[in-house]
Amino acid sequence: MAKIIDGKALASKIRQELKTEVDKLKTNGIKPGLAVILVGNNPASKVYVNAKGKACEEVGINSLQHNLPENVEQKELISLIQRLNNTPDVHGILVQLPLPAHIDEENVLEAISPYKDVDGFHPFNIGRLAIGKPALQPCTPFGIMKLLESEGLEISGKHAVVVGRSNIVGKPAAIMLLERHATVTICHSRTKNLSDVTRQADILIAAVGRPKMVKGDWIKKGAIVIDVGVNRLENGSLAGDVDFEEAKQIASAITPVPGGVGPMTIAMLLNNTIEAAKRQSSR
Ligand code: GUN
Repeated sequence: MAKIIDGKALASKIRQELKTEVDKLKTNGIKPGLAVILVGNNPASKVYVNAKGKACEEVGINSLQHNLPENVEQKELISLIQRLNNTPDVHGILVQLPLPAHIDEENVLEAISPYKDVDGFHPFNIGRLAIGKPALQPCTPFGIMKLLESEGLEISGKHAVVVGRSNIVGKPAAIMLLERHATVTICHSRTKNLSDVTRQADILIAAVGRPKMVKGDWIKKGAIVIDVGVNRLENGSLAGDVDFEEAKQIASAITPVPGGVGPMTIAMLLNNTIEAAKRQSSR
């Protein structure tokens, strides 16, 4: 039976450490601040944004939520971002995705100052990540790396298979695994014989957004399985991208949903906000 990787516990430990760090910064007159922009009424986005605000409060980060209507003009959103770029006590800016269809996501993300880009989605940060330079790193894959490291799981020389090529998770996860000397395969919707590829993985990362897609027989005996999926089922319960009941019989370690990757994403957002505040205050 697989070891269940407890993301909730690790995230809570990290948050404790971050709180200590915030207290220290405050004695030096620095209060980290995060601005979160929510456009429209996507119910899942609202839940995420509220969770982020609450997590900030708990560690002593000042968080401001800006709610814009679904039909807001792009230039209005960008002008808010520019104002926040120039507000010294805002150290991090996060625009919750997805955005309404009439708004060009790329234009919006590129408007955020790379130094305040706590999601690590700006091409400046993604580019620096890709060449192995210090950067603000996307929170979900960053959280996955922390989970692997804290479990003492070897990455170097292992075959890591990432299922999903999103800019938010799959692509940056692949870059981070490569940086840690894994042999990396990225799979996606056009990959042929997907389960033949996933069965070769020593480390399998599922980030596709399809409930229970990865079955037990897609997994190599003893593999490490990281499940990024958060899928709401018709009965209201949550399921990952991995069939957990099957997978835990085969894997050596696996993250649950909920309580695996999700809490780590928020912990890394707090980490990035504090990191951004420190860098901005020392410039
Ligand atoms: N939507 C889904 N995941 C994320 C994330 O990590 N950051 C932002 N801003 N939006 C998201």
